[in-house]
Amino acid sequence: MQKNTITLTNNNTGETYEYNILEATRGPSVVDIRTFFKDTGMFTFDPGYTSTASCESKITFIDGGKGELRYRSFPIEDLATEHTYLETCFLLLNSRLPTKEELTDFDLEIRHRAFLHEGLRHLFNAFPDNAHPMATLSASVTALATFYNDHLDMEHEEEYLEMAHRIISKIPTIAAFAYRHSIGTPFIQPDIDLGFTENFLTMMRAYPGGKMHLSPNGHDKIKEVEIRAMDTIFTLHADHEQNASTTVVRNVASTGAHPYVAISSGISALWGRAHGGANESVIAQLEYIGSVENVEAFIKRAKDPNDNFRLMGFGHRVYKNFDPRAKILKGLQDELKAELNLDSELMAIASKIEEIALNDEYFVSRKLYPNIDFYSGVILTALQIPKSMFTPIFVIGRTVGWITQWIEFKQDKTSKIARPRQLYTGD
Ligand code: CMC
Repeated sequence: MQKNTITLTNNNTGETYEYNILEATRGPSVVDIRTFFKDTGMFTFDPGYTSTASCESKITFIDGGKGELRYRSFPIEDLATEHTYLETCFLLLNSRLPTKEELTDFDLEIRHRAFLHEGLRHLFNAFPDNAHPMATLSASVTALATFYNDHLDMEHEEEYLEMAHRIISKIPTIAAFAYRHSIGTPFIQPDIDLGFTENFLTMMRAYPGGKMHLSPNGHDKIKEVEIRAMDTIFTLHADHEQNASTTVVRNVASTGAHPYVAISSGISALWGRAHGGANESVIAQLEYIGSVENVEAFIKRAKDPNDNFRLMGFGHRVYKNFDPRAKILKGLQDELKAELNLDSELMAIASKIEEIALNDEYFVSRKLYPNIDFYSGVILTALQIPKSMFTPIFVIGRTVGWITQWIEFKQDKTSKIARPRQLYTGD
């Protein structure tokens, strides 16, 4: 019978080592090298983890070659078009979609937990007005751990789910407060009569006092189409297997630190422009490019190996095909174009970049396709969301993914503290 193993030969000594291959239910199998150091006295070397599976997981599956993404085996296309973000949260946390009654209870629980402790609200006063909302968000989520010093018993589902619900529910309030602090306007408290996404948009856009459905110009009600678009954006960001920020969350979890501190670390990791910060950078870059006529020159710069200019919103470590989330957002963008009068110069520049890059040998040969961040910025701009809030919105969507991965890590009896080694080349 064929053995499911791999044999490595040290060509200096002639010694051979055999390692088991662990089969995935879908996607690449892995070589189990946990005894490699003990066997050989050597480490494996994989900076940036390009060939490393850091954990076993049942949450999210990506086939980067096909451009496929599934949460708990449900295709992202179905979740984004047939289900709400809250249903998706329930699915991630419970491995199944909710019944109607369960959804009502879950929705109510999330609404009720959205308020912040007054002490936490005062913390915002300590931050300067021009603080980036991501910095305020990360600090405030760490501060949340001072109010909820849970010592969670992972044997008790209700305990860790309560912790998860609390963070999912409070993050939009913290994000909206961080934004309002940054522009110096009074905070809008959560409205228990509103669903998750409408509540967030209201806390962002309303004027205090009176009924809240006002945009900054004081006129428009929040439209149904805007709520749907934002809800879809949250769903598309809900989880993405072992990306940089999720890996950080798991690593912090591995030390035994408080779950909110792990989430706060994930927020910090997400901020970088190679990761979640790319959505803000995409719009900043489109503004910098300035007009359709300048696009060719910037594409040339992106291709120049001696220029570190990169086209923001292009490329992905895992997707070597169209990012399925980007496809959904492109469809949404076309839909919104008509409904929200979305015909801006920025959109024209973005379309031109997309058109050139998708046909250019440099991008085609490297399989550099537009990613989720390429489209989300344009849509968020149409929803009157300022650039500085793009990455906090990514955070709102991703919190459920981080906390679900945190729970999975904690429940894995084989999990260990993350402690990689190094190739020392110093004196
Ligand atoms: N513009 C121009 N060239 C690029 C780009 C780009 N956006 N992305 C990759 N390349 C080139 C890169 O120069 C390299 O070329 P060569 O082989 O000639 O040296 C090749 O493509 C491979 O790039 P890499 O940096 O080795 O790929 P990576 O898997 O380490 O990085 C990435 C992936 C997403 C960090 C990178 O594509 C990038 O910096 N993109 C722009 C930032 C961005 O949009 N980030 C959001 C990612 S999606 C949301 C998320 O995950 O949070």
